[in-house]
Amino acid sequence: MSSQQLVWLITGTSSGFGRRLVQSALSRGDLVIASARCLKSIQDLAECPSHQGRVRLLELDVSSGSKNIKHQVDIAVGFFGRIDVLVNNAGHAIPNILEEGGSECLRKQFEVNVFGVIDMANAAAPHMRAQGSGTIVNIGSRSAWKTEIAVGPDFRRRCRCLRSCGFAISCCQTPAVCELTSPLVFFFPGDRSVLCLQGSYSRADGNARG
Ligand SMILES: NC(=O)c1ccc[n+]([C@@H]2O[C@H](COP(=O)([O-])OP(=O)(O)OC[C@H]3O[C@@H](n4cnc5c(N)ncnc54)[C@H](OP(=O)(O)O)[C@@H]3O)[C@@H](O)[C@H]2O)c1
Repeated sequence: MSSQQLVWLITGTSSGFGRRLVQSALSRGDLVIASARCLKSIQDLAECPSHQGRVRLLELDVSSGSKNIKHQVDIAVGFFGRIDVLVNNAGHAIPNILEEGGSECLRKQFEVNVFGVIDMANAAAPHMRAQGSGTIVNIGSRSAWKTEIAVGPDFRRRCRCLRSCGFAISCCQTPAVCELTSPLVFFFPGDRSVLCLQGSYSRADGNARG
């Protein structure tokens, strides 16, 4: 491992942005810990001969609670001895509106997209602090600043039926992800950084399936 190679830990790498990001980091020559709920879904990432030795796989459900996540992140640090970049990419958008889904739906989405982000960052931060450097990237959404987003194929039709203003469930959670990204929330002084990337109708394969 050279001093220029970064070690990435990326969540939700079975499809979409996460999978693409794994491939981009590897093509830069970096080292990647690719995580997913189901290892079978990312097995091929480790099997590619040109990646050998530079990818490790980690089974990780970001909604599995702070204790388990801390345990898994500690294991991840052991793979290459450090984590330089944590990408909180795992997420799902439940194709529903608040009037239909209610708090139950919202809770499910928060478990992954908000509490998952907090647990991952809290688990990685002590390692980054000990290293003296590190970056946390949260994948948020443009829904944080523009709320009428169409989620699911029949979303607009159902909104019309309900005569609802049509706030998608995802619109409630995305501002939280952006706010969480504030350096004031994660105490990261010095050369440690916390970034938020805001996706917008991008053609990742899965589009944060619900
Ligand atoms: N594409 C866009 O236009 C867009 C716009 C705004 C925001 N985003 C954000 O970008 C991120 C990636 O989305 P995408 O578009 O690439 O969609 P995607 O292909 O559906 O990717 C979502 C990934 O998250 C994983 N995931 C879901 N729940 C998880 C959990 N509890 N623990 C661990 N992994 C979990 C999924 O894994 P499984 O295979 O196990 O389900 C999948 O690998 C999401 O955070 C999404 O909110 C995307």
